[in-house]
Amino acid sequence: MPATSSRHGTLLRVPWVLVHFVIGYGAILALIFVPYIQTLAVYGHHRGFSATPNFSSPEDYGLAPGKAVNLYITSADNTTLGAWFVTSETYYRSLPFPVQTIDIPVALKQRPTILFLHGKSGHRAIPRRIAVYSALSSRLNANILAVDYRGFGDSEGSPTIAGVASDARAAWDFLFVHGARPQDVLIVGHSLGTAIAALLAAELGRDSISPLGLVLLAPFASLRTVIHEYYILGFLPLFKPLAMAPALTRFLLGLATHPFDTLGLLPNITSSVLIAHAEDDGAFPHAHADMLFDAFLELIPATSPIPSNMDSVARQAELRRRLATVQEIPGFGKLEEAQRGERKFALLKTVAGTHDILRVEGVQDVMGRMFNLI
Ligand SMILES: *[C@@H]1O[C@H](CO)[C@@H](O)[C@H](O)[C@H]1NC(C)=O
Ligand SMILES: *[C@@H]1O[C@H](CO)[C@@H](O)[C@H](O)[C@H]1NC(C)=O
Ligand SMILES: *[C@@H]1O[C@H](CO)[C@@H](O)[C@H](O)[C@H]1NC(C)=O
Repeated sequence: MPATSSRHGTLLRVPWVLVHFVIGYGAILALIFVPYIQTLAVYGHHRGFSATPNFSSPEDYGLAPGKAVNLYITSADNTTLGAWFVTSETYYRSLPFPVQTIDIPVALKQRPTILFLHGKSGHRAIPRRIAVYSALSSRLNANILAVDYRGFGDSEGSPTIAGVASDARAAWDFLFVHGARPQDVLIVGHSLGTAIAALLAAELGRDSISPLGLVLLAPFASLRTVIHEYYILGFLPLFKPLAMAPALTRFLLGLATHPFDTLGLLPNITSSVLIAHAEDDGAFPHAHADMLFDAFLELIPATSPIPSNMDSVARQAELRRRLATVQEIPGFGKLEEAQRGERKFALLKTVAGTHDILRVEGVQDVMGRMFNLI
């Protein structure tokens, strides 16, 4: 009886599929919360892209000869960090060809500088980052300091939140020691680097130092939010099966080893802030940019109370309506801007651009205009 036996077979197989699924799910959940695995997953610093880059030769990676210099910065705990200083187009063009040496203090005096805090994996010499230095040094005519956090590239050590935060601070101090004025340094973070940029901006805020501004490109609101929304292999929602167990969910999220929490830092950030996110970003949903922008708007004192019967969605819409001006840029995106005294908050949403949004010229230009670089 072939029909019966096949039905029988299916019935027997179903529970096994379920058992495998539950075991697999449990294993993935357990693995994700192993600190070592979290460190690798969050920073991806073990992924180098090219064999061993010759960091002392930025020319090998496409930068004009003599335009960039490889240097080493010592972090607060004596960890040595590799970095590149790329000069602005104006300064580079002012030097006799072929360029022999660059004078960092002179370059810093001539043009504003971008402290670039890169995202996860790779190092300062990977092609998509080189493309960013080329664009920012020419299109925005800015100097760039690109630092590899501990554990990345040829920097010593391995990454922790406190460690990478002190590395960003060491890069800031390097500029300061070489004569840069805080109001001439724009802190730009991309992806994971937005959380590090926010840590630096909050630390400077606490020290009453005002940088030119803070730019958060393709940011995430907090790492716990990201883990909570995570889809295994892009389609299996990690925390969906635990929706009925909020206490367990909270407990598991509490195990995050590197709980970057940009949202929590906002009150201590005192500079102007630009947030940019592409709607087709595949790494972090652009709702993260909204969460951050709305949290900044909440810092602006209300002129009249917002009705208490509004839910959070309606409240955010009302805050935007009251505080932000909206500019539609045809074919490109939408720019919302708000002002609090001297400070400006802006949210740029682009229709396209993916996660690698800093290579988008329109985004570079909005940055340039907002911070008077162009
Ligand atoms: C790396 O580049 C520097 C500067 O161009 C050069 O002197 C050195 O020989 C290079 N090192 C290697 C291993 O190729
Ligand atoms: C870093 O090195 C310097 C000089 O070698 C030393 O004086 C200082 O105590 C060290 N700091 C730490 C935190 O190890
Ligand atoms: C913000 O700064 C104040 C001191 O100015 C400090 O007490 C507080 O802990 C800081 N908040 C965060 C989230 O770092």
